[in-house]
Amino acid sequence: MKRLMCIGLLMMALGGCASNTSDENRQIHIGVSVYDEYDTFISELTQYFYSYATQDGRNITVEIYSAEKSQLTQNSQVQGMIADACDVICVNLVDRTAPSKIIDMARNSNTPVIFFNRELVSEDLLRWKKLYYVGADAYQSGQLQGESAAAYLREHPEADRNGDNMIQYFVLEGEAGHQDAIIRSESSVDKILEEGIVLEKEGYAIADWSRTQAQTQVALLIKENRNVELILANNDDMALGAIDAYRNANIKKEDRPAIFGIDGTEVGLEAVLSRELDGTVFNDMKGQAEAMFALAKALSLGEPLDGLGLIDNKYIRLPYEAISLDNIDKYLEE
Ligand code: GAL
Repeated sequence: MKRLMCIGLLMMALGGCASNTSDENRQIHIGVSVYDEYDTFISELTQYFYSYATQDGRNITVEIYSAEKSQLTQNSQVQGMIADACDVICVNLVDRTAPSKIIDMARNSNTPVIFFNRELVSEDLLRWKKLYYVGADAYQSGQLQGESAAAYLREHPEADRNGDNMIQYFVLEGEAGHQDAIIRSESSVDKILEEGIVLEKEGYAIADWSRTQAQTQVALLIKENRNVELILANNDDMALGAIDAYRNANIKKEDRPAIFGIDGTEVGLEAVLSRELDGTVFNDMKGQAEAMFALAKALSLGEPLDGLGLIDNKYIRLPYEAISLDNIDKYLEE
């Protein structure tokens, strides 16, 4: 089991999960398991979570583990965190369709679980009252991406390189079966069509949120000399992989398709600033980390959950925001 970092003043001799006291000085012990430490967005979110915990001023210990894309590993990490008497466990599921083992262990030990980013189906979340989800609305991110792309295409008629009054587009999809991949792809395209732009699908490739996989896929498109005028990537890393492929092929920006991402990661923002990426959508990693931390703290201390923005006592969803050169300063300052 790979531990990423451990913070806190003291690892107390912990004798079971927190009871419902709100003793101001009681130590809080939070466990976190992420699906993959190399995922750019998740690593930014985790760093924010870590900062909120360190800056809180209370005696907080956070254990963060990477499941290295194995659900079995993640299950045993959760088992270990329960044995370590974590007050609450935050889980970024490897397989969003397989949370059962974790839910059973949590319920048997009375340890609340905050799932985040990789959304389990509501039937699973309803299986026990102390299960929560923090994330965002995938549909909204696709709509915002589509809206930005449509605005760009209207302002840049030259984007229709072959002048056929249609935009040939290619989609770089995240993991198969991930809510943010399926829904983003659909709602982005729907929005562009709704804005009156005629689209023709040139193809798609699953690139698992990965910059290198996206680069390989787009290098193939370039090699095959396919006419692609727009690339919609489900996240910034894949959009950056597409840019890498064009750069490696010595294709200048003005000869590349318009490229859009989602996340607003540091590297994504830099690419918007350098005008290589035509737009992205802010996936509020800071807000999600803050909401997760506030919820984890309240659950650990047995405090009421009112005022934390919970929907149906279960969900916290942070809004997405479109990012372009016009408003990027706000995000660079974050
Ligand atoms: C998405 C994010 C991706 C990737 C994925 C992992 O919300 O946009 O970049 O981090 O989550 O589950």
